[in-house]
Amino acid sequence: MDRFHIEGPVRLEGEVEASGAKNAALPCLAAALLTPEPVHLSNLPDVRDIRTMQKLLAHTGVFLSARPGEATLEAREIHAADAPYDLVKTMRASVLVLGPLLTRSGQVRVSLPGGCAIGVRPIDLHLAAFKRLGAEVTLEHGYVEAKAARLRGARILFETVTVTGTENAMLAATLARGETVLENAAREPEVVDLARLLRSMGGRIAGEGTATIAVEGVEALHGAGHAVVADRIEAGTYALAGAITRGDVAVRRCRPEHLEALMESLTAAGARVEKGADTVRVRATERLSGQDISTAPYPGFPTDLQAQWMALATGMEGESRITETIFENRFHHVAELQRMGARIRLDGRSAIVEGPARLMGASVMASDLRASAALALAALAAQGETVIERVYHLDRGYEKMEEKLNRLGASVRRVSE
Ligand code: EPZ
Repeated sequence: MDRFHIEGPVRLEGEVEASGAKNAALPCLAAALLTPEPVHLSNLPDVRDIRTMQKLLAHTGVFLSARPGEATLEAREIHAADAPYDLVKTMRASVLVLGPLLTRSGQVRVSLPGGCAIGVRPIDLHLAAFKRLGAEVTLEHGYVEAKAARLRGARILFETVTVTGTENAMLAATLARGETVLENAAREPEVVDLARLLRSMGGRIAGEGTATIAVEGVEALHGAGHAVVADRIEAGTYALAGAITRGDVAVRRCRPEHLEALMESLTAAGARVEKGADTVRVRATERLSGQDISTAPYPGFPTDLQAQWMALATGMEGESRITETIFENRFHHVAELQRMGARIRLDGRSAIVEGPARLMGASVMASDLRASAALALAALAAQGETVIERVYHLDRGYEKMEEKLNRLGASVRRVSE
């Protein structure tokens, strides 16, 4: 039950390095289940969700040698093709073992993830994909059971773009008989990164990064080494930290091309944005003008930066309409920002932010990963001290946030109860 104590206002200045992407590392770790040979992953973020996935893989029988930033995984045999509720309830992304366990061992039992703070988040599209691949899927006592002697390739059209749904189907299709075509597939850089790993393991995949991905099934996959792609959401969060403090922040070791939507909105608001080969630099002076944003699947504006953008919008001139189209309940940060003095009203799936408001330090409560990042950003710009409770939400997806912010000139203290 750690808390953050953050003093504001500060002006951030300097360089910070992006870590590897949590949302690429998770499916890449699950991919190790597809081969008995060693898979070595590097540039892994040192965050709690990665450790949860490693625990789950060890539970299935994977030999694991890990240290911060890297891991070697060897799924010589699958001892337990299941994911128990106790693990799945702490991290929904545990469902990513469904596809690899099903295609590797022919049967799997995984706890249904249940609800989440930001939305109902069903996995019906994952299960529909496995049925298309020929699996028998049943739901019993809160668990999904799926089995198939060998999956067979199929055409799968996703009703809605789903990131982990695309990844799960891709993982399952690698060892299926014949070709699978995924349509209306997710185009996220994390999906592309997984495809890169699977190809280096001997998988036959084409079209990743587009809405149509083709997977030609193979008899077996082999071991490989892979460096996980940089975390565009973490990089975007630090770029926004620079903007909200009217500072000058360069995020290094990131992929600027993965942040186009954010950079366009920052430029339109009046910030100065510079891109290098693996760096984005954001400088903001006093006045930034309100911008409307609407979240969308990649390459649209990421829902995982919506809350952080809202924190910035509280200090912009004029009105910003922020529309959340991906998750039906992703405005938990609104009430906490209002506690800090922000002027925000809700209108259906939009939040309308009236700026500029002078934020004041307060005690606030983190509710989910990105909402807590938004509260940390708001605290950097607020007058006085802010205390953020339950920063375990942050630790799920941000590596050493307080150290990185303090290196940029912030004053963030972690207090452990
Ligand atoms: C991934 O979640 C990310 N998580 C999320 O990041 C991210 O917010 C989300 O994609 C959208 O970009 C990981 O990659 C581990 P979806 P995912 O399936 O795959 C509906 C973070 O902060 N849907 O693309 O679970 C769903 O309810 C996290 O790091 C179905 O209806 O999201 C949502 O409305 C939070 N049925 C929409 O599709 C399904 O079977 C998109 O969800 C699957 C999804």
